[in-house]
Amino acid sequence: MKDLQFARHRRLRQSANMRALVRETNLTVNDLIYPIFAVEGENIKNEIASMPGVYHWSLDRLHEIMDEVVSLGIKSVILFGVPNHKDATGTEAYHDHGIVQEAIRFIKKNYPDIIVIADTCLCEYTDHGHCGVVEDGKILNDPSLDLLAKTAVSQAKAGADIIAPSNMMDGFVTAIRKGLDEAGFEDVPIMSYAVKYASAFYGPFREAADSTPAFGDRKTYQMDPANRLEALREAQSDVEEGADFLIVKPTLSYLDIVRDVRNEFRLPVVGYNVSGEYSMVKGAAQNGWIDEKAIVLEMITSMKRAGCDLIITYFSLDIARWLAE
Ligand code: PBG
Repeated sequence: MKDLQFARHRRLRQSANMRALVRETNLTVNDLIYPIFAVEGENIKNEIASMPGVYHWSLDRLHEIMDEVVSLGIKSVILFGVPNHKDATGTEAYHDHGIVQEAIRFIKKNYPDIIVIADTCLCEYTDHGHCGVVEDGKILNDPSLDLLAKTAVSQAKAGADIIAPSNMMDGFVTAIRKGLDEAGFEDVPIMSYAVKYASAFYGPFREAADSTPAFGDRKTYQMDPANRLEALREAQSDVEEGADFLIVKPTLSYLDIVRDVRNEFRLPVVGYNVSGEYSMVKGAAQNGWIDEKAIVLEMITSMKRAGCDLIITYFSLDIARWLAE
């Protein structure tokens, strides 16, 4: 055996400390963004049936989850509002005292250091569940832009630190940037859902946000999961329009896209580990079929390795706890 020539890769794997020394990707609590669903009403902490461990929170109980976020060292949350009243043009989305605006105000008042990201879309607020204005069964692009810009401005007014438009109309970064700048919010960054696929992985979220489209689907505005070059075209437009962050969504089945976007652009890349990715793992873990902690840490580390600088994940609290162990 003595004169055989081969590389000894195992030299660098022989102990936990040796492995830690050569580890290329390290997850930290700074990488995590925690999604929160705010609902109207009082004394509400309701678990979302398809997302065990994730809740609807009314404003009077929001402090419970925010205290946990802060105590775990998480620095950033992304907010979704679920209003009681929905209508054709999603007026509650840009109401200055809408549910998400009030949630933003509450958090910025009581937890001023937490970075509050506002998801900017219409689908949680429209009665038809689409992300834009609908006419004759079509989702109109340009009329939707005005409403999105209005929504972004009302969120910035309420104190949002970052605006995250997720509606996939063309030109939304331009429209929102213009709206924010004209209202004096030139320092508020845009975290664009630049690359967002028409994905079945959003199923549980739509239950949580009550935003399943009443007719049709989102395929005329969200991307075809089969496409890779199109992702670069989408991201390119958003970079040119002035985005400050690029989101790729979903993440788990789209790590090749994350890597493409990471290689092509210089902005921070954010992966959205979406509801379906969460629920698959939770469901299997609750059945005792997988080791939840090991699976989640491997999954989220893979996302960082693929090129995510930040990850929006419903597992943020668990991960922060595990990292602190
Ligand atoms: C709003 C929005 C959606 C998600 C984030 N923002 C739903 C959708 O596009 O249908 C999905 C997030 C998740 O599944 O966790 N447009």
